[in-house]
Amino acid sequence: MGKLQEKVAIITGAAGGIGSAAVQLFVDEGARVLLVDSAEAPLRDVASRFGDRVAWVTADVSSARDTERYVNEAVTRFGGIDVLFANAGTEGAVCSLLDATLEDFDRVLAVNVRGVWLGIKYAAPRIALRKGGSIVITSSVAGLVGALGIGPYVASKHAVVGLAKTAALELAAANIRVNTIHPGPIENRMMRSLEQQANPGDPSAIKGMYHAMIPFGRYGTNEEIAKLALFLASDDSSFCTGSVFVADGGLVAH
Ligand SMILES: NC(=O)c1ccc[n+]([C@@H]2O[C@H](COP(=O)([O-])OP(=O)(O)OC[C@H]3O[C@@H](n4cnc5c(N)ncnc54)[C@H](O)[C@@H]3O)[C@@H](O)[C@H]2O)c1
Repeated sequence: MGKLQEKVAIITGAAGGIGSAAVQLFVDEGARVLLVDSAEAPLRDVASRFGDRVAWVTADVSSARDTERYVNEAVTRFGGIDVLFANAGTEGAVCSLLDATLEDFDRVLAVNVRGVWLGIKYAAPRIALRKGGSIVITSSVAGLVGALGIGPYVASKHAVVGLAKTAALELAAANIRVNTIHPGPIENRMMRSLEQQANPGDPSAIKGMYHAMIPFGRYGTNEEIAKLALFLASDDSSFCTGSVFVADGGLVAH
């Protein structure tokens, strides 16, 4: 029997690297999954691989109306919600805090923080109706330590740790677990964007710099992060709540 047999999950950022790997793993483990993303074409493409075990809806997670809509869609399509994987995120611009713009700061915080809060706000009452479940939030190693050039992103990823810990306290009585996952650099679009922005002339130099900082000497894979999300989504983590779970090849052990 799969680890998510009979469970219904919502995955936001489902068209992206980590999100789409989680869709694959959650479906393989027996879940029915609502895929949420703001990018319609890649979302449709991911959903097309999975038949009627998945449904998809385009939504901007920073919008209250969109969040209510995607939560309602999961209930309409699959009868309830057991798991929210609040994973959608944006890296924003690479520049110093002194050069950051108001627009970029507000957008990064809106997607990465308000989006997570809205997901909790609208999904938790539905999860409570199933006598409990799990909310997994994708933070980052940038939610544990500072990082040069991505101040709004760092602030946003620290902020969701506070949201998760508070939600864990408030939702324990409803038997809802809430935890954050903290990937190090992952081999996907977001790192390509950060490398390119940090050094347009030689993005591979940034990758080399990260490899040198990571004790395992490499980036992680989307699948390695999806496996951590699966552990927290499933009953295997039945006594884990309000905690941070790091998967970074040893990066923040320094
Ligand atoms: N890639 C990394 O190295 C890394 C490291 C640590 C944490 N993370 C976090 O992992 C999560 C997933 O990112 P990823 O690595 O798969 O990158 P990604 O860019 O491939 O995926 C992010 C997805 O979020 C979607 N998205 C962005 N804004 C949205 C919005 N307003 N509403 C709905 N969807 C939106 C994007 O369309 C994209 O599909 C993010 O929260 C990211 O911050 C990534």
